[in-house]
Amino acid sequence: MNTWDVVIVGAGAAGLFCAGVAGQRGLKVLVIDHSDKVAEKIRISGGGRCNFTNRLLDASAPQKHFISQNPHFCRSALSRYTPQDFIDLVQKHGIAFHEKHKGQLFCDHSAEDIIRMLLTECEAGRVTLWTGCSVKSVRHHTQGAQTTHYVLETDKGPVQATSLVVATGGLSIPKIGATGWGYEVATQFGLRLIERRPGLVPLTFDGAAWAPYAQLAGLALPVGIETGEKKARMHFDEDLLFTHRGLSGPGVLQISSYWQDGTAIRLNLAPEVNLPERLQDAKLRSKKLLGNELASLVPSRLAEAWVSQDPALQRTAAEVPDKALNKLAQALSSWTLTPTGSEGYKKAEVTLGGVDTRDLSSQTMESKQPGLYFIGEVVDVTGWLGGYNFQWAWASAHACAQAL
Ligand code: FDA
Repeated sequence: MNTWDVVIVGAGAAGLFCAGVAGQRGLKVLVIDHSDKVAEKIRISGGGRCNFTNRLLDASAPQKHFISQNPHFCRSALSRYTPQDFIDLVQKHGIAFHEKHKGQLFCDHSAEDIIRMLLTECEAGRVTLWTGCSVKSVRHHTQGAQTTHYVLETDKGPVQATSLVVATGGLSIPKIGATGWGYEVATQFGLRLIERRPGLVPLTFDGAAWAPYAQLAGLALPVGIETGEKKARMHFDEDLLFTHRGLSGPGVLQISSYWQDGTAIRLNLAPEVNLPERLQDAKLRSKKLLGNELASLVPSRLAEAWVSQDPALQRTAAEVPDKALNKLAQALSSWTLTPTGSEGYKKAEVTLGGVDTRDLSSQTMESKQPGLYFIGEVVDVTGWLGGYNFQWAWASAHACAQAL
């Protein structure tokens, strides 16, 4: 029997990082991935430049940037392995990076730099990596009172390990290897799951209702965007992108993780302008068409799309009745619309929900099932857009690797 201290299933961000740290602690580590290429999500992340962490992460208030049934679960791991720790590693490997926006750190050259760094760390820990290898089954054996081990049937034969780490990620982007394997293993060992759904995902709208806006596909602009009511209200000031089927861009991706099916989102399409005041002012002094005045306040394609929907607006600013003007200002500064759905896992950057944190130790990521660990996105911890998800992958992997 092929025997290891640790078998890690999933050679993505969390799996590779955990393997390197555990290997360098002297453990005999095997990593198995069913894909031929490791870390495909790192490769495509951040537009190919990998937004690998976020300087603004506040581990003392994780609910600010992370979503989970238990928002405090991730605090311990995030405070013990911080963005600065990962930055130190990136610098040690001589990888050039820059800060883009709101604390987001990206590689200057390529996401491949991060993959190379993780593989170098694995090499330093004498980690064995099996790619293109599937795990057919997992069994747990108990020998005597204390000693337990796992036996995995794989394409390369059976392997045995004292600890099994599940790092198979979420369900997003199945075409590059995402599967629900981690959730199946959790269920097999009696662990609970929090319902999963796509997060950081473009939102879609009914075809007929969307028709007037489909012409805006490609238009990007800064907006205020929110969803939910009272205490559950979430607001982001970010860019919006119109698409043929609906809305995308960072603002929409962020809000999608909080949006509930059947509820509305509200958009301020001119967050930097006092629209009622500016339109009234145009009415008093301008002889131009209202559409032209509006085009000086919001992108002209947007102005045209709005004005073309209401004949009362297709006049000079002075001629537009106050009621129509106020309605326009209201519509643009609090555009309320109900998405019919999202683009789903094929476009989602993350999966919300996952292995229930009530069945995991926040210190070690070990589950109620001794020797079985879950790290990274497979766990019910989902970060905001902006490097938070990778930081969770690094931090949960590190907490686990210290405990193995
Ligand atoms: P990850 O998905 O990285 O790895 C899982 C591994 O398990 C994969 O290698 C997969 O092949 C393997 N696997 C799955 N099922 C298996 C099975 N049955 N048997 C064996 N192996 C199996 N985050 C961020 O912080 N900054 C960013 O810039 C981006 N950008 C971004 C862009 C896009 C397009 C996407 C889809 C996602 C992002 N993310 C991101 C999110 C980030 O990529 C994600 O949260 C982490 O990769 C999660 O790391 P894990 O290691 O948990 O899973």
